[in-house]
Amino acid sequence: MESQHGRPILVTGAAGDLGGVGRNLTAMLLAKGHRVRALVRREDERSEGLRQLGAEVIQGDLMDLTSMHHAIEGCARIYFGMSVSANYLEATVNTAAVARHHGVEAFVNMSQMTVTSMSITETTASPQHKLHWLAEQALAWSGLPVITVRPTVFLEGFFLRLAAAGVRERDELALPLGSGKTSPISAVDVARAVSVILDEPAPHIGQIYNLTGPESADLHHYARVFSEALGRTIRYRNIPRSAWIDSLFEAGLSSHVAKHLAVMADLHVIGRYDRMTDDLFRLTGRPATSMLEFVRHHLDEFTRREAAA
Ligand SMILES: NC(=O)c1ccc[n+]([C@@H]2O[C@H](COP(=O)([O-])OP(=O)(O)OC[C@H]3O[C@@H](n4cnc5c(N)ncnc54)[C@H](OP(=O)(O)O)[C@@H]3O)[C@@H](O)[C@H]2O)c1
Repeated sequence: MESQHGRPILVTGAAGDLGGVGRNLTAMLLAKGHRVRALVRREDERSEGLRQLGAEVIQGDLMDLTSMHHAIEGCARIYFGMSVSANYLEATVNTAAVARHHGVEAFVNMSQMTVTSMSITETTASPQHKLHWLAEQALAWSGLPVITVRPTVFLEGFFLRLAAAGVRERDELALPLGSGKTSPISAVDVARAVSVILDEPAPHIGQIYNLTGPESADLHHYARVFSEALGRTIRYRNIPRSAWIDSLFEAGLSSHVAKHLAVMADLHVIGRYDRMTDDLFRLTGRPATSMLEFVRHHLDEFTRREAAA
């Protein structure tokens, strides 16, 4: 395991706190004894936290060639991930071009499971899905030693960030997901899978891992799981899509992100997230985090303050 004593592993998007794959991955790789170079967009308390963990923190922009030379030079293994955004493809190619220049032994690319059902004749209406598909194409042409990770929807997004207020304040899981089944995965499990790959990348080069949670079920089922975890009745409310999108804009999301989330919701309704794989278990030897474990782990966020007091 060369990077234990030799070259650091580059983790991009390391300060992220939405899924937080980069942040969790940084901690996991350090715990395995690797040196980690953590790329952050800006210095703040999150970057300081990474430093406290023992990472070599560098500030830079994935869109900037000079930044990426500084970030990649001296690293042999890379995790590439960044926020859902309109410039995702350019950032991917920017990073890949510099990685080719310096020569790396592994490039783990964060993608999305929806890409498995996309092709040259079939994309989705999500601008982000298309960028991920194109990014995978470009990386395949690059000749880099790529490993592709395609998780399904993260628990931390739809089932925490987008759901916590409704659960906390109105005892409802209010999402526009119809009666479609879904198998959400924890971003912590995704980070664990990537940490296994980057620990010993050679057998994984060229592989694509589709990562799902431990069960696929509809939202009524998950509302019952919330009820069990929280000790009060939580009901699923299939909210109108248009009102939900308005609320995303009100919350300050960009049109790129809002459109992407809206398409994810639509694809849930038609059953596209009803998928199960055992890739996570095969990689990590551990079962995926269940909804019950996830809600119990985030009790505070789902509990009204007066109820918690
Ligand atoms: N959410 C889901 O359900 C889901 C499902 C499957 C796959 N994914 C994929 O997972 C990835 C997101 O992972 P995540 O949730 O772990 O990310 P995250 O927590 O949102 O963190 C992303 C990080 O990227 C940084 N970043 C954005 N633009 C940058 C730039 N130009 N230069 C440098 N850093 C930049 C952000 O910096 P700041 O913090 O400073 O903004 C942030 O720290 C995306 O590829 C997404 O498609 C998500």
